[in-house]
Amino acid sequence: MSGDKSSLRVAVTRRLPEPVESKMRELFDVRLNEDDHRMDRDELLALMQDSDVIVPSLSDRIDGELLEKAGERLKLIANYGVGVDHIDLPGAGKRGILVTNTSGVLTEDTADMTMALIIAVTRKLNQGMAVMQSGEWEGWSPTAFLGGRIGGRKLGILGMGRIGRAVARRARAFGMEIHYHNRNRLDAECEKALQASWWDSLDQMLARVDVVSVNVAHTPATFHLLSARRLHLLQPGAVVINTSRGEVIDENALTRMLRAGEIAGAGLDVYEHGHEANPRLRNLPNVVLLPHMGSATVEGRIEMGEKVILNIRSFAEGQLPPDLLSPGGI
Ligand code: DGY
Repeated sequence: MSGDKSSLRVAVTRRLPEPVESKMRELFDVRLNEDDHRMDRDELLALMQDSDVIVPSLSDRIDGELLEKAGERLKLIANYGVGVDHIDLPGAGKRGILVTNTSGVLTEDTADMTMALIIAVTRKLNQGMAVMQSGEWEGWSPTAFLGGRIGGRKLGILGMGRIGRAVARRARAFGMEIHYHNRNRLDAECEKALQASWWDSLDQMLARVDVVSVNVAHTPATFHLLSARRLHLLQPGAVVINTSRGEVIDENALTRMLRAGEIAGAGLDVYEHGHEANPRLRNLPNVVLLPHMGSATVEGRIEMGEKVILNIRSFAEGQLPPDLLSPGGI
């Protein structure tokens, strides 16, 4: 691959880690979002009309209408992130615009955060932190802050892709029993290595597990996969964890059930309406809420940038970008 600066005009919609932006400045005719504001539709459209490549991230909704109005020169959407549910892939395909993501590099970080939420909710870390932060701790007591033991609990993983499998590996090390529901069953060797049991029926798995971890991508087929009906299949002592996409869970139903004590707890990093978490989830003692930080490590975010650069450079050299997505979806 040549080191020459390409004449490709590349527009990046959010601030990226400094080493990534520096490399992009060296390689491309790049426009950066210096103050990191969230771009509105008009700004996005202006970039899409005047760039060869745009680098959006999950806060940019690139729908069919924007794609139809995109300029002739737009040929690649090199998404900074793995999830592409904010991009109309068939719409991009119709316009002959390629779409890539950054799969692989945020698997381990997201799985770490999933495990952190499982532990935080089950062992009531938020309640302990609140007491320490308020200065009201009165000392050790045999019956204070009692959570549940992680080892021996049944974990049901919904979506056994890269991240689901990375969660399974961690949970095994904590002594959890691994169950999973996935469109396709893993091969026998992989199932054996993870000591994982496959459930063809999601309903049946939900009725039997202590913790559910959502690790499936958001697509039209997975919208509200954890519907009110399915949430009611969970045992009252169950805990729901989501580090994938909020749309997979009916958030209002989950909130109602948490408030009514029909589900024991939840650890959420993502919400059905982007950054607007249901306000009735706040301040619940059995809920840990995070601001979509599953992949937020310095190392991961730099690797994501490196993947974006590799995808753009491959495209510029007439090769298929390594993380090319099919217009039909992921
Ligand atoms: C992604 O890249 O889709 C992640 O959700 C970001 O953490």
